[in-house]
Amino acid sequence: MTIEFDGRVAIITGAGGGLGKTYALELGRRGAKVVVNDLGGNPDGTGAAGGPADTTVEEIKAAGGEAVANYDSVATPEGGAAITQTALDAFGTVDIVINNAGILRDKSFLNQAVADIRAVIDVHLLGAFFVTQPAFKVMKEKGYGRLLFTASSAGVFGNFGQANYGAAKMGLVGLSNVLAIEGAKNNIRSNVIAPIARSRLTEDILGPLVEMVEPELVMPLSLYLVSEACELTHELFSVGGGKFSRVFIGESPGWFAGKGVQPTVEDIATHIDEIRAEGGYSVPGSANDDIRLLLEALG
Ligand code: NAI
Repeated sequence: MTIEFDGRVAIITGAGGGLGKTYALELGRRGAKVVVNDLGGNPDGTGAAGGPADTTVEEIKAAGGEAVANYDSVATPEGGAAITQTALDAFGTVDIVINNAGILRDKSFLNQAVADIRAVIDVHLLGAFFVTQPAFKVMKEKGYGRLLFTASSAGVFGNFGQANYGAAKMGLVGLSNVLAIEGAKNNIRSNVIAPIARSRLTEDILGPLVEMVEPELVMPLSLYLVSEACELTHELFSVGGGKFSRVFIGESPGWFAGKGVQPTVEDIATHIDEIRAEGGYSVPGSANDDIRLLLEALG
């Protein structure tokens, strides 16, 4: 089978370099019309420049594709709205949004200043709201949409020195899960990746892995997830170095105290291993699914 994007309009935030650029180039090659958003600042979120977005656009065009640059910051409602407006003005619609723009302000928790916390949450988490909301409106009206969010193992599993980043990244998992449910009846699918790739954000911290995790090795899964061929939604994947894995939040069968029984604190201590045991888990697809599991236990 061949996966094509002919006629599809894709917004990719932070597509001036790193992972986002690999998506933009390949989407352009495969027939999509691409909005290349990039603020063009420093890895810590300071500064701005048009060069990176322009370079990606030039490369797409040189390869015969269609693309337009946008230099707005994702981190404001006005910026988010302007990004979708760029897609509407240039190409008339929007089918795909890849939320990829990102910055880092790594410091251990007690050293994170309010500005470090705000800057990171503004770009990653609020930025994804601001970019996706106007696009979601268009997608709902047209009955088609593919959303991809970029989380991180730093949030999904935790990492030293990344409280701001980890919280923002895990927030994106929650956002995607809700949009998967809200978008379902309008054929809008929403998924998340937690990538590992060499980029300016990671080349100093990946150690020997740095030579084996080209960003191009993440791209195939990201493009599959935003393709028409992909019916998956509400999912999360770990991807890097050519390895592709699903990550999911499972709920163990746990321990049931019994209908109408008031358990004591000591009962919890007694049954804690049963509560924590990993076998026989379910993967709820929604909060309602979680309530269904409780109703089943209550008989
Ligand atoms: P990168 O620094 O090459 O790409 C991020 C891009 O986002 C940059 O081009 C930057 O100019 C742009 N950007 C930053 N703030 C922006 C804003 N406010 N508005 C618009 N554009 C903005 O780094 P990389 O690694 O390609 O990162 C892409 C995404 O992947 C980020 O969200 C990052 O947190 C995430 N990620 C990357 C991992 C890795 O191993 N490279 C690991 C886990 C997550």
